[in-house]
Amino acid sequence: MPTVRHAISEMETQRIGEVSRIAIGDPDVIPLWFGESDVDTPDFIGEAAIAAIRAGHTRYVNKRGIPELRQAVHDYMQGLYAVDLDPERITVTGSGMTAIMIATETLVDNGDNVVLISPIWPNIFYCVQTMGGESRHVRLQMTEGGWQLDLEQLFRACDERTKAIFIASPSNPSGWMMEREEQQAVLDFCRQRGIWIIADEVYHRIVYDRAVAPSFLEIAEPDDALYVVHSLSKSWAMTGWRCGWLIHPAELGDRIGDLSGINNTGSTSFVQHAAVAAVRDGEDFIGDMVARCRRGRDIVYQRLGGMDRVRLTAPKAAFYAFPKIEGLEDDLAFAKRLVREFRVGLAPGTAFGPGNEGYLRLCFAKAEDQLSAAMDRLEAGLRAL
Ligand SMILES: Cc1ncc(COP(=O)(O)O)c(C=O)c1O
Repeated sequence: MPTVRHAISEMETQRIGEVSRIAIGDPDVIPLWFGESDVDTPDFIGEAAIAAIRAGHTRYVNKRGIPELRQAVHDYMQGLYAVDLDPERITVTGSGMTAIMIATETLVDNGDNVVLISPIWPNIFYCVQTMGGESRHVRLQMTEGGWQLDLEQLFRACDERTKAIFIASPSNPSGWMMEREEQQAVLDFCRQRGIWIIADEVYHRIVYDRAVAPSFLEIAEPDDALYVVHSLSKSWAMTGWRCGWLIHPAELGDRIGDLSGINNTGSTSFVQHAAVAAVRDGEDFIGDMVARCRRGRDIVYQRLGGMDRVRLTAPKAAFYAFPKIEGLEDDLAFAKRLVREFRVGLAPGTAFGPGNEGYLRLCFAKAEDQLSAAMDRLEAGLRAL
């Protein structure tokens, strides 16, 4: 067979998939491996989708998104951050992931690099790899007070081939969140060096010590080299719907629209109508979701804290715990064993970039009894290690 591109043939097997494939859909296994809540999408969103289908919204639409959704996104962002975004800066995409891919496609040529704050969700560095770029991981350090970023280390990782610094804050998997002063320092550095910022803010509502995570949009100027990625998946329990949005400089609107077209011709038309309902009327649901995640976080943090060999810092945001298991050498093999023998599904730490050997990730956006049972199973697994 003729070859495929090197960047693709060299792509390693996705480790979370390697674990989940063993027992996906098996009702005896408690699945905490993926980043999604066990709550169904609320009815008012489903009803809006059904009404949109009945009204005939089933055809191609503008590849930058339907005007109602772009307006709803504008209003939502204004309500949260007091920013009055030029509508030209808003493009609806087929998912948060598509927004990340489009941003990467606009920036990364063969041999360029993107500096990432790590541990990080693997799809992001696969995206850079797909474009022929190099990912440079700058790892957060786990401390008593939470995960810490060394800004000097971040800046030192950049060189003349650095096209962007990618910051997922709040972070999957660590639960770290970048504070305003750090954002300002990164923005100043990137302005000075002509480097883009890709700010992945998809977990901006899943925060425990304030109403919303700090956004780069609050400190940036409209023409800064800034992308901000958003998704309907997490706050509104819409992982399967595939819709997100990208905030970008206005002058790139047409290009971003073209790339949205090339990737998937935009998000599904009736899904966009449902997204309007979500973004406009979803505040009560988001409040419930955060309360559920907070309960899940408390259970998991308390239980993991009582287990031998587990080192953990309380996540400030997002819905993951990312504990380190002292003495665990092969986290992938152990995650597989947890599924096969102990019937609980976690993601292996090494999926999230270098330096994460011996870590495990679990999603706690789940029912309390499920989490308690999962912690019992994990504890038994650790005892057998
Ligand atoms: C950090 C981060 N960014 C982006 C996404 C993409 O979300 P989606 O493609 O479902 O909109 C995810 C999903 O897990 C994520 O964890």
